[in-house]
Amino acid sequence: MCGIVAYIGKEQAYPIIIEGLRRLEYRGYDSAGIALMNGELNTYKKKGKVQDLEDFAEGKNIKGTVGIGHTRWATHGKPDDINAHPHVSGNGDIVLVHNGIIENYSQLKEALIELGHEFESATDTEVLVHLIEQYQAKENLPIEKAVQKALTKAVGAYAIVVFDRKSPDRIVGARKSSPLVLGLGKEEFFLASDATPIIKFTNKVIYLNDEEIVTVKRNGDYEVVTIDNEIQNPEVQEIDLKIEELEKGGYDHFMLKEIYQQPKTIKESMRGRINAEEGWVTVGGMQDHMTRLTGADRMIFAACGTSWHAALIGEYLFEDLARIPVEVEYASELRYRNPVIRENDVIVALSQSGETADTLAALEMAKKKGALLYGIVNNVGSSIARLTDCGSYIHAGPEIGVASTKAFTSQLVVLALMAMNLGKERGTLSNSYYRQLLYAMEQIPDKVSQILEQEEKIKYIAGEIKNAQNALYLGRGYNFPVALEGALKLKEISYIHAEGYPAAEMKHGPIALIDMYMPVIVIATNQSAYEKVVSNIQEVKARKGIVIAIVLEGDKEIKKIADFTIEIPETVEPLSPLLSVIPMQLLSYHIALMRGCNVDQPRNLAKSVTVE
Ligand code: G6P
Repeated sequence: MCGIVAYIGKEQAYPIIIEGLRRLEYRGYDSAGIALMNGELNTYKKKGKVQDLEDFAEGKNIKGTVGIGHTRWATHGKPDDINAHPHVSGNGDIVLVHNGIIENYSQLKEALIELGHEFESATDTEVLVHLIEQYQAKENLPIEKAVQKALTKAVGAYAIVVFDRKSPDRIVGARKSSPLVLGLGKEEFFLASDATPIIKFTNKVIYLNDEEIVTVKRNGDYEVVTIDNEIQNPEVQEIDLKIEELEKGGYDHFMLKEIYQQPKTIKESMRGRINAEEGWVTVGGMQDHMTRLTGADRMIFAACGTSWHAALIGEYLFEDLARIPVEVEYASELRYRNPVIRENDVIVALSQSGETADTLAALEMAKKKGALLYGIVNNVGSSIARLTDCGSYIHAGPEIGVASTKAFTSQLVVLALMAMNLGKERGTLSNSYYRQLLYAMEQIPDKVSQILEQEEKIKYIAGEIKNAQNALYLGRGYNFPVALEGALKLKEISYIHAEGYPAAEMKHGPIALIDMYMPVIVIATNQSAYEKVVSNIQEVKARKGIVIAIVLEGDKEIKKIADFTIEIPETVEPLSPLLSVIPMQLLSYHIALMRGCNVDQPRNLAKSVTVE
């Protein structure tokens, strides 16, 4: 949450920072701000999107070859111009942008007020800039030392970038629990929350570690030290990210592009890991730890949001195919209760961004208890990828739409491949079923393409139910978590209240809500419980609910009773969520669009939740 971009070099900083902030808008879009230095220090801040900031800055002095920018997701203090970052010290010299939460801000603020500091905003962030100013003035320190001192007093999470008008040839950045990447260009440096604002200029980056402080200088020098002043020798990494991957590529929205990318991204997630013809699945990240993985007493899957839904399907896959007991936990709950975690447990963290604060914290807690940590992550080089002992990237490419789509299906692919690999190792899968799964897996991308061809039909159905105030999603077995995911997709982007339920549970509550205005989206593809789902549909129809059924191609029975049906191709049941979720994604997309919602940047949400 919150995006940071900073630049120092020979070019004009403003366009670089504005473009970078646009790339980071997925992290928050409540307000945006920029500070630029060119003899004088100019700071512009505006409630709203980066575009609002640009409009505000038009015609003003935006010159400067050094600058820092921020796009905010509000935590402390409402989204307005004053609470927008950057924040400026009382003497007007120091400017700072921050991503994270300073938990002890009120104690620090009280102490600073006693020392005569005056505060303008309601943010936790502003205390940091005053604290840095206080240390600098009191001990006459260079900015990087003042930052270092101040951070020893800060409790909480931060990625910060700081600039001091008195030292116009340097910028200081620091991180703890929130990401910060340094880009090393030719006689120029970039600091950003992720590599997307940097990649146009350089592919050489350093991912800062927790409690590291970096000082970059216009003369090309940089230095990384820890908060305890130990000099670090950080690894420079070359990232493989193409600028086209960050553009809409002719689609109206990132979400639509990402939905349509799925045949390709699913293939990418499988690449080099499966060969049906030769009859093998090998998930690289597991091989070095196979004994521990196959011998695990149980696995705990920890995640948030859509990744948590993928984890639920993972539970079905691992228990069904590999016979390993799995518990699925909301990362935020796992970390704050007093869970029993033993050395023989494996914690599998699922995260698109690899930066979700609660998931990271749950992993840190489990690490202390000696469990093996496995990461299933999209964002290469992210904090979760680096913290875990082993893991697998899902290779879905950058996902920019706030509502997760292609990352979800790629997480499912990796989970399915892992379950097959483990099932084979543990001898829980018969050879014939194993082969059947492999072939079915390789056919998934084409089947996804076939479903995407039905967009017009799905759009029509969206038009029929777009004015609903509530919606119910039902599924059984492997498709129960898909019902949860379908409901989440609708809530997130169209603001229609929606709930996902196991189909049989409908009778225990939600049925009371059903009337002629209630769309009920039923995933009716399970061969193993077909008749039961048909009964559930009858129960909805008896109460005049509007039934939209996802059925298998050629289905006759449900077509007769449902109001609308969407046909999807058949596959083996463990892989069916990879197909049944696609109509859910398109349905939500079109309903949101018809309701005039901002599909890629839904209100109040952010893609990378780096605060707890
Ligand atoms: C936010 C996003 C969701 C995402 C969740 C977990 O809530 O809006 O789309 O599923 O965070 O994110 P992660 O990056 O850990 O998968």
